[in-house]
Amino acid sequence: MSNPSLLILPGDGIGPEVMAEVRRIIDWYGDKRGISFDVSEDLVGGAAYDAHGTPLTDETMEKAQSVDAVLLGAVGGPKYDVLDFSVKPERGLLRLRKEMDLYANLRPAQCFDALADFSSLKKDVVAGLDIMIVRELTSGIYFGEPRGIIEEGNERVGINTQRYTESEIDRVARSAFDLAMKRGKKLCSMEKANVMESGILWREVVTEVGKDYPEVELSHMYADAGAMQLCRWPKQFDVIVTDNLFGDLLSDAAAMLTGSLGMLPSASLGAPMENGRPKAMYEPVHGSAPDIAGQSKANPIACVLSFAMALRYSFDMGAEADRLESAVSKVLADGVRTADLLGEEGVSPVSTSGMGDAILAALDASL
Ligand code: IPM
Ligand code: MG
Repeated sequence: MSNPSLLILPGDGIGPEVMAEVRRIIDWYGDKRGISFDVSEDLVGGAAYDAHGTPLTDETMEKAQSVDAVLLGAVGGPKYDVLDFSVKPERGLLRLRKEMDLYANLRPAQCFDALADFSSLKKDVVAGLDIMIVRELTSGIYFGEPRGIIEEGNERVGINTQRYTESEIDRVARSAFDLAMKRGKKLCSMEKANVMESGILWREVVTEVGKDYPEVELSHMYADAGAMQLCRWPKQFDVIVTDNLFGDLLSDAAAMLTGSLGMLPSASLGAPMENGRPKAMYEPVHGSAPDIAGQSKANPIACVLSFAMALRYSFDMGAEADRLESAVSKVLADGVRTADLLGEEGVSPVSTSGMGDAILAALDASL
């Protein structure tokens, strides 16, 4: 059997730095566990624009379609703010999501015990937190037509359209229910059915899908109230399912509950391929952090944990994913901190590769 294939797209800003640590971990799995991947690397975002004048070439898109999983770092940066909308770095990422049809974006928010003090919320509100946001990723207002900036009378009008078909809601709802079945069997669906027709349809379809999952306790919340409840008592949630835009906002809020955006991975999954694996891309929730790029300060944990999600969801290697997640937990429990996690007196930060070294040492110790 051939090795599983991985396409690595480090992207911009801190992307290449954090991805370098993931590559060391991938090598560790080859050397120490006999689990080898066929790894290829390519450009995305501003890096691709600089080289090719487009944030994603057709060749890279084709490669992404043909591998077992894509690992992406981050895209964007102030240097690219002046570019035309159609070639902005983010367009490369959105094209990958859309053309690979990665409709279910899994964003876990887990609070590591060692970091419970870092949250802006009280420790007892976040300690032990373990929730999963399932964000619809290929439709809604991010992609709906009509869109654009048009002239109307003597002024311009900016237009975007929130649009969801029943089948789009149905499939992401099923992903969320399936996950809930493997977790705490609780699902909360968030929309704004009080003001949006797409929200009314969303609620109806999710309720209908719920009939196939009688064991899962389904609840509904308006997304604004959901944001409030996430800050008030996040542990009331297990799995949350929501649309593209609300999911973007709610997942950033949930991420901060855990202390740092530098900690959170994500998986974007589509329909199963011929080999039974879902189409998949894994990426940290954080962005390219241009303010600290190139300074070896970035926290590689979100990217490392994204690779752990790849082990779990693409390669059916749950035990190896557990091993990597435990290694990260151990390193944090030992007090190893990148600059984003400082706060304690007398602790000096490790560099990006220092964190990588510590995780590799913890992996060695796990053997
Ligand atoms: C995210 C990001 C992206 C989004 C940007 C970079 C296009 O914020 O993955 O959450 O809005 O989806
Ligand atoms: Mg976002």
